[in-house]
Amino acid sequence: MTDTSKQDRVLIFDTTLRDGEQSPGATMSHDEKMQIAELLDEMGVDIIEAGFPIASEGDFEAVSDIAKLAKTSTICGLSRANFKDIDRAWEAVKHAKSPRIHTFIGTSPLHRDITKLTQDEMAERIHETVTHARNLCDNVQWSPMDATRTEHDYLCRVVEIAIKAGATTINIPDTVGYTAPRESADLIRMLLEKVPGADEIVFATHCHNDLGMATANALAAVEAGARQIECTINGLGERAGNTALEEVVMALRVRNDIMPYQTGIDTTKIMKASRLVSTVSGFPVQYNKAIVGKNAFAHESGIHQDGVLKNAETFEIMKPEDIGLTATNLVMGKHSGRAALRSKLSELGYELADNQLQDVFVRFKALADRKKEVYDDDLVALLRDTASEAENERIQVKFLRVICGTEAPQSADLILSIDGEEKRVTSTGDGPVDAAFNAVKELFPHNARLQLYQVHAVTEGTDAQATVSVRMEEDGRIVTGQSSDTDTVVASAKAYVNALNRLLVRRTKTDPDADVKQVGYKDAG
Ligand code: KIV
Ligand code: ZN
Repeated sequence: MTDTSKQDRVLIFDTTLRDGEQSPGATMSHDEKMQIAELLDEMGVDIIEAGFPIASEGDFEAVSDIAKLAKTSTICGLSRANFKDIDRAWEAVKHAKSPRIHTFIGTSPLHRDITKLTQDEMAERIHETVTHARNLCDNVQWSPMDATRTEHDYLCRVVEIAIKAGATTINIPDTVGYTAPRESADLIRMLLEKVPGADEIVFATHCHNDLGMATANALAAVEAGARQIECTINGLGERAGNTALEEVVMALRVRNDIMPYQTGIDTTKIMKASRLVSTVSGFPVQYNKAIVGKNAFAHESGIHQDGVLKNAETFEIMKPEDIGLTATNLVMGKHSGRAALRSKLSELGYELADNQLQDVFVRFKALADRKKEVYDDDLVALLRDTASEAENERIQVKFLRVICGTEAPQSADLILSIDGEEKRVTSTGDGPVDAAFNAVKELFPHNARLQLYQVHAVTEGTDAQATVSVRMEEDGRIVTGQSSDTDTVVASAKAYVNALNRLLVRRTKTDPDADVKQVGYKDAG
């Protein structure tokens, strides 16, 4: 048997709350960020990139509160290459047991054109900013953004400058998801060979998934000597996303024979993290997504089922329990009591306080009355809806009845409670959902634009709950609302109202530097 204790450790740097949250529509509330950070800390993530503190008051507060909350993870705040950003990042992370400042600048020719800095001017800026960060914090990460499209000589030069100025981790981002495994490995190898002092710091790999190679590129970088992988839960992130945490962690575990590296991740929490991030971001997990997709452990064909029943290893290279998927999807029904619900939720990884359990129990009973069997995924959807109502939503759906049929238009009779006052209207539309949305708009006029409307069946069967996601945009602010119900139109109206409530919260927040996020890394220099 292999002695894994002697294997090299690969640090897991999770950026779900920073790079992941940057995905248009994936904006998370303060409480949701806290929940995710708590779980990442619990599951053994080494470094949590909690946000971009200069981007807004909200980001600053979230990073600062996560810094206070984390028990073991290092908490990192992102900053561009200027003193104001770096000071703000330090203010936010300084309360952490283990704080880190991450500062970056785009080093490729394309980025140097944007910042209008010559190679020498940029080199000087890197020296000054890393030195400044290091004077504040002894744990500093530096990233040459777009490293994979930066001239090799220049990359070696600036990495050396950053190391000399005190950077303790050098991250090599493949910002546009352009590299391929061999090139990703060669780049790390070249830096380790050519840059003086490279063996004294940790090299990190940060891959985007535009060509679907983020996981392979990250693992190739590790084989070449990188010892930190930057990743997100479910691969969330801008465009095609980032390396998925669950993929690299499970790959290193399952193929430890050929990739002998250890991580500190408690893999049994992977499923819980995946569900939470999907719920909070409103980005559903693709059914056939590696590790956490609904079908990842489903064996449909007769041959497969037969094989798995005789010996699970025939077609399964890992066990569902390894990622926290309970082996039995024990069904709950209307006769299940509070104790059974508590135990089921705990099995799914949710420990609720008595009052929270009571709220979920009431909803569970109502659902069980309408639906014969309540599955794990139904319970997770219930938990989400209970949590969003606990956010004291200003607008609430009190009553909805739609009339539909083959003859247009369809109509919706709706009562909303708005700041405690009930209002009623009947509206028509092209289909029941359109009619319901028009009714919401009549009762609560607004200029937000609907960017996305998505329906997913939570489980199988005609009595399945539908989870609806609605993404809306108003003056550059993008929010996602979600809700589940056995009635798709009710779920749609509630998801729409949930998105409006989130917009109301965003409207009241002062967002002095909101443009930083919206235009990507404007002024990344
Ligand atoms: O993709 C990227 O280059 C980044 C940097 C800020 C590290 O996310
Ligand atoms: Zn990135």
